Amino acid sequence: MTSKIPLLKPYFDSEELEEIQKVLDSGWVSQGPKVKEFEDKIAEYLGVKYAIAVTNCTSALHLALLSLGIKKGDKVLVADYTFPATGHSVLYCGAKPVFVDVNLKTYNIDPNLIEGKITERTKAIIPVHTFGQPAEMDTIIEIAEEYNLKVIEDAACALGAKYKYKYVGTIGDIGCLSFHARKGITTGEGGMVVTDDKNLAAKIRNLSVFGMTSAWDREKSAEFIIPEFTELGYNYKMSDITAAVGVAQLKKLDQIIERKRELAKYWDEKLKEIEFIEPPYVSENVKHIYQSYVALVDKRIKRNKLIEVLMKKGIQTQIGTYASHIQPVYNSNDKCPNSLEIFNRSIAILSNK
Ligand SMILES: Cc1ncc(COP(=O)(O)O)c(C=O)c1O
Repeated sequence: MTSKIPLLKPYFDSEELEEIQKVLDSGWVSQGPKVKEFEDKIAEYLGVKYAIAVTNCTSALHLALLSLGIKKGDKVLVADYTFPATGHSVLYCGAKPVFVDVNLKTYNIDPNLIEGKITERTKAIIPVHTFGQPAEMDTIIEIAEEYNLKVIEDAACALGAKYKYKYVGTIGDIGCLSFHARKGITTGEGGMVVTDDKNLAAKIRNLSVFGMTSAWDREKSAEFIIPEFTELGYNYKMSDITAAVGVAQLKKLDQIIERKRELAKYWDEKLKEIEFIEPPYVSENVKHIYQSYVALVDKRIKRNKLIEVLMKKGIQTQIGTYASHIQPVYNSNDKCPNSLEIFNRSIAILSNK
């Protein structure tokens, strides 16, 4: 059923079509110059040295973990309240995700619970900037340094969000972004890995193209090069057609964020008038970009029923996201009561206007 009020609608106009047309006219539609342009523009926007465009944020997370050498027998701490792509990426490496509960107000990983989950096998931590609200990065980095853990920021929902004036995704060792349809800017499906580390960037690039030199890099060489497959990489490349949409979307990012923040302010005011809904909390020293506007429904209200009633009125809403530890795929013994509570009580409402 088409809703009168959808959860969100992407902001597209003629710019996306013009960029796609340029790529189609050029004849280079797989990974090539437009991907390079998109990567350069994201790197410039965030102020990072390297950006590698990939098929989605799940592949970005997978490559980030592989580049850090995460393997079978290792454990990776993962913020529990997240789309399960985060936990899945750890499983793809043969490692074990250990889920850490989140703060009931921010929906983000609770830094006070991290140290209790660290063992000798723990190699990395993945904080998630949930719905575009930055996680408490100072404490997370401090703990990571003390225990020699790598930090991969799952910034799938948070391009443009800032933690103390720094863009999220640029604070840990590696940041991963998503351009899925429900994200701030979208290419339908798409992702990006960002880092300041030259070696990690080279490894991630190589792994994203089957473990060989990329066609675009070979094209720039004056010599005829037959590539070698140096390791078992993946086909996680973004295409130039996808990147064309990304280039056009990126020009709109700041404007999109401002509109989403304005709408969030409106909802905050409106929801204050409703007794059984708690508007989302915003931490100090952050710029929340409201990829989704996610409120909490009072425990006395049946959230699923509310979603159904609204659906019948043509108003599309959704749950926020998932409690990972209860997903059967993980067979986890972790206890994350706050995450479970948010999973059961959250409601995402219109976040674009
Ligand atoms: C927090 C988080 N991480 C990772 C992903 C995976 O992103 P993608 O769909 O681009 O693979 C999502 C997608 O919703 C997400 O919300």
